[in-house]
Amino acid sequence: MIVVTGARGFIGSAVCAALRARGDRVVTVGRGPDANVAWPPGEAEFDTAALTVLAGARAVVHLAGESIGVRWTEARKREIVRSRVVNTGRLARAAATVIPTPAAFLSASGVGYYGSRGDEWLDESSSTGTDFLSEVTRLWEGATEPAREAGMRVVCMRFGVVLGPGGGMLAKLRLPFSLGLGGRLGSGQQWLSWISLNDLVRVVLRLIDHSGIEGAVNVASATPVRNEEFTATLGRVLRRPAVLPVPAFALRAMFGEMADGAALASQRVRPARLQAAGFVFDQPTIDDALCAALKSPGR
Ligand SMILES: NC(=O)c1ccc[n+]([C@@H]2O[C@H](COP(=O)([O-])OP(=O)(O)OC[C@H]3O[C@@H](n4cnc5c(N)ncnc54)[C@H](OP(=O)(O)O)[C@@H]3O)[C@@H](O)[C@H]2O)c1
Repeated sequence: MIVVTGARGFIGSAVCAALRARGDRVVTVGRGPDANVAWPPGEAEFDTAALTVLAGARAVVHLAGESIGVRWTEARKREIVRSRVVNTGRLARAAATVIPTPAAFLSASGVGYYGSRGDEWLDESSSTGTDFLSEVTRLWEGATEPAREAGMRVVCMRFGVVLGPGGGMLAKLRLPFSLGLGGRLGSGQQWLSWISLNDLVRVVLRLIDHSGIEGAVNVASATPVRNEEFTATLGRVLRRPAVLPVPAFALRAMFGEMADGAALASQRVRPARLQAAGFVFDQPTIDDALCAALKSPGR
């Protein structure tokens, strides 16, 4: 049995579908009426009844978190932090309380951990950044500590930008690009570390099954691209011009701190630990990933 949070989300729904397709029983923790277990209100801990579902799980796959792809108001920033740090902490404490504890605790994280680092290659041993997202990510990963202390195999999955149908960044970009209104963001020189949704799901299943991997894992392809290359490729795959750049000042006006913290941030990430484990990507290039996501057979 696998416990999944954020199960209704873009990534969670694909992970749950893949788990069920291979015969795993999935128990969800969430906010909606369809969740098997509800998050406790406010900052309360899980009660005994809720805890029983965690006992003996093969893995907890924790994906819940308030979206960061919007303007960061102060209230939104508080919820971005709370939904990750508080929820990860109480889920990890709950998993640590039950007997037997789940074997593995896989927690979402992001390449935002590294901050904005220009052309520098970043692997799992690279230092963290100093901006808001780096700070959140550090606290988010740190909140898994009770699970590690209780002997669980904890993996912090530092996701790159996930490219797939029906959600994530492509859901936001598809309409403007389809209308011919797409273009690079700012200088277009910033690096985008990305992974196809299909490969991400394969990585999550591998991390559930592979008892030799723990700690931080970069879940991104081995071929990050500059924003200008991403933009040109997306235009080509959609057969639309993508020549209307969005200046940095306009992004800052629209999205505030999120512009520099995410849209203009540069992360050139190497999936060193996945490569060491021999993981082979189904979509190794940005063309492959965008064609697969947008169901375009040609380019
Ligand atoms: N998509 C990406 O490109 C990407 C990149 C890096 C990291 N990540 C991380 O991966 C995780 C999953 O991403 P996603 O793209 O699947 O996100 P998503 O589609 O926005 O789904 C996130 C899920 O988190 C739960 N959630 C949202 N706001 C919440 C809140 N305030 N309190 C408690 N739960 C909340 C919801 O679960 P329920 O409503 O079902 O309970 C929702 O289904 C997130 O933590 C995200 O930061 C994603």
